[in-house]
Amino acid sequence: MKEKGTKPWAGRFSETTDALVEQFSASVGFDKRLYKQDIQGSRVHARMLARIGILDDRECEQLLQALDTVAAEIDAGSFPWDSSLEDVHMNIESRLVELAGDVGKRLHTGRSRNDQVAADLRLYLREAIDRIDPLLETLQRAMVDLAEQESGTVMPGFTHLQVAQAVTFGHHMLAWFEMIFRDRERLARCRKGVNLSPLGAAALAGSSFALDREFVARELQFAAPCDNSLDAVSDRDFAIEFCAFAAILFTHLSRIAEELVLWASAQFGFIELPDRFCTGSSMMPQKKNPDVPELVRGKSGRVFASLLALLTLMKGQPLAYNKDNQEDKEALFDTVDTVLDCVTVLASLLPHVRVNREQMLAAAQQGHATATDLADYLVQKKLPFRAAHETVGRIVRHAITRNRRLEQLDLQELQAFSPLIEPDVFDVLSPEGSVRSKNTYGGTAPAQVAMQVEQARLRLKAFKAD
Ligand code: ARG
Repeated sequence: MKEKGTKPWAGRFSETTDALVEQFSASVGFDKRLYKQDIQGSRVHARMLARIGILDDRECEQLLQALDTVAAEIDAGSFPWDSSLEDVHMNIESRLVELAGDVGKRLHTGRSRNDQVAADLRLYLREAIDRIDPLLETLQRAMVDLAEQESGTVMPGFTHLQVAQAVTFGHHMLAWFEMIFRDRERLARCRKGVNLSPLGAAALAGSSFALDREFVARELQFAAPCDNSLDAVSDRDFAIEFCAFAAILFTHLSRIAEELVLWASAQFGFIELPDRFCTGSSMMPQKKNPDVPELVRGKSGRVFASLLALLTLMKGQPLAYNKDNQEDKEALFDTVDTVLDCVTVLASLLPHVRVNREQMLAAAQQGHATATDLADYLVQKKLPFRAAHETVGRIVRHAITRNRRLEQLDLQELQAFSPLIEPDVFDVLSPEGSVRSKNTYGGTAPAQVAMQVEQARLRLKAFKAD
């Protein structure tokens, strides 16, 4: 009987591991998060070994029972984690031997920690993806609800953060919806890459036992076994792809967060965030800070860093497994946690954003946002666009010197710039008239937004059914 904490590989070694090395190479502090997946994989591996006659039914049953006990101990917090046993896999296996005796030593037949850890990670990530996608859907629904409610709310649209043309707030919400839609499509593609079974690859070469890899894959709901055993144990593309999905998601979330921060400022005043989602200042009594969107914006840093960490980790590694790969976990776990947290908090915040319609309209009336509409009006009256642009430029300069908005100029004043201008010009000079006229597919007109809201709801339904 081996002493507690004895390494399974001790046979080949003439001295025990240096304490420093033990501490340096242990991963159990963070990879114990994989215990459920590890046990799930072990249960199927044991049943497969029984199917091919390596275990008899009684041995298999003993192993399954002992695995259940291990799971219960970990759930209850009574499991004796031991960092000298390096990682979650060896901790569980060692406890299994304690509980089940010699039969516990049979479980690792035709298996290596190399295919085991790859399988655990894939199971973990698949579950994470299946939790993240519905949260993204909730976030999208909040956007579509706001879009419906504010389909006719006029606000300034910006380019270069300068007032460009009037748009509707509903239209802006649907732009956010599209970003997240693409993220969900990326996540669904990523899931396909995750959902393959490395088990049976063993250390790197495959196995001399007639392992039933299809059975294992099927029982763990993987789409298929990985096709090449060397690749199966060394590949972490699936984790990189997830981090790439997360990085792109966070470019979107940080843009959304940034707009919330800007809009909630006194200078914009477009929205008000609920008090319970904000914090105050310890010194300035008047402050109400948008910490939640700021933190979401800030969290993009660690998410991008994880993608870079994984790319760097995998670059230049010779096949097959290398211990470097142990470094994949913290980056991946942190990314999953950050995505879950940020999407959850944004999805809870968004339905409670109060929209200040008057302030948005007032802002849309500033900055001569309907100048392009006036040029388009002249083009309808057969003036070439370049000439119209020039004429309207002069009208805008005139309005600026008089400190008036375009729709505040008199008809005669306008006609002095072009005889083509008639009383109907005022229909296009107001921001409301301007947005109404942008009724092209995907445009900002309230009628168009209302239609796009319907489409968005159908797309959400169809996406779920996929
Ligand atoms: N803790 C290791 C990891 O996370 C498990 C695989 C170890 N394999 C090995 N051959 N040392 O990658």
